[in-house]
Amino acid sequence: MAEHRFGGIKIHHLYKIFGPNPTAYVDAVQKGLTKAELNEKHGHVLGLRDINVEIPSGRIQVIMGLSGSGKSTLIRHINRLIDPTAGEVLVDGVDVVKMNETELRTFRRQQTAMVFQKFALLPHRNVLENTIFGLEVQGMERAKAVDVAMRWLERVGLKGFEQRYPNQLSGGMQQRVGLARALSNDAPVLLMDEAYSALDPLIRTDMQTVLLDIQKEIKKTIVFITHDLDEALRLGDQIAILRDGEVIQQGTSQDIVLRPADDYIANFVKEVNRGRVIHVEAVMTPLHSGAAPVGLAIVAGTTVEEAVRMLSSAPEGDARVVSPSGETLGLVTFRQLASAMVNSQEGVAARHDSTLSVAL
Ligand SMILES: Nc1ncnc2c1ncn2[C@@H]1O[C@H](COP(=O)(O)OP(=O)(O)O)[C@@H](O)[C@H]1O
Ligand SMILES: [Mg+2]
Repeated sequence: MAEHRFGGIKIHHLYKIFGPNPTAYVDAVQKGLTKAELNEKHGHVLGLRDINVEIPSGRIQVIMGLSGSGKSTLIRHINRLIDPTAGEVLVDGVDVVKMNETELRTFRRQQTAMVFQKFALLPHRNVLENTIFGLEVQGMERAKAVDVAMRWLERVGLKGFEQRYPNQLSGGMQQRVGLARALSNDAPVLLMDEAYSALDPLIRTDMQTVLLDIQKEIKKTIVFITHDLDEALRLGDQIAILRDGEVIQQGTSQDIVLRPADDYIANFVKEVNRGRVIHVEAVMTPLHSGAAPVGLAIVAGTTVEEAVRMLSSAPEGDARVVSPSGETLGLVTFRQLASAMVNSQEGVAARHDSTLSVAL
């Protein structure tokens, strides 16, 4: 793991306009010129408009949106594979946009690693040699590089496959190599652009589990791009939803499921298993003072689905929601939990703001 404390990523007022004379249109875009107007009247493409996203160190930020919404454009600004038309991208407090060539090269090599959808493995190198590639480029001593690579290959479940070639591996296994290679590099920022989008659903879920497991240990700042809502909700500590180059909502999984910013997002979240996303404290009746009642205690942060499971074996039919230190925050009934799992806003959204502030 990188030794210095990594401070996260801050993207402020980022604009990207594609075309021969992009800076000429920043003003107009800031004043409200739409993507369609910019395209029709001026022949330029609005890639990103006024993006503001702050990603704390060690968290997983998901960027979600349909194809063409600007996800790749956004993630490529973080290691400046794309230069912005306006705005700043602070990584660990340093503006990537202002770096010179040398600084940028060092930054990319030491601070960032990427995992791609098309695994980008070298076909004539075996698994070990593919994993080691970046370490070689960095000039790491061979024995040490093998050591590091073997450790990560084992961690992603590829022990015993070191000598195989990419064409002898399934898509899921190739993506594990891609992940091991990125992790070997030991950079604090991991950029994953639709890394799992080409995988079959079951393998994809496996890979999400691998990533979540490893993240508990490595605590990198991960920017994960997907067009899949279930993947976003499962992986994201924070989620930003893009449409036509704009962030139309950001928040936690629960924020997005409970309070979709508009019909477009509401439509996305309609089919979601709410019980896995919503936490008990969003459903409970808050208790501000008074004697703590007896009964089953459920810790804040527990999902509704899990709480239902706990409550169904409790005779009382209701439970206390407690903080991690054991302080009672509120009461929750089986009925409240059950209604929260149904696909409707009722009974949850109205109480959400006040209860969250109590619980968190
Ligand atoms: N180099 C480019 N030149 C012109 N337009 C581009 C370029 N790269 C991306 N775009 C446009 O920017 C928008 C966002 O693209 P992209 O970031 O690739 O979306 P996503 O990754 O969400 O599918 C699209 O309208 C796309 O056509
Ligand atoms: Mg893309």
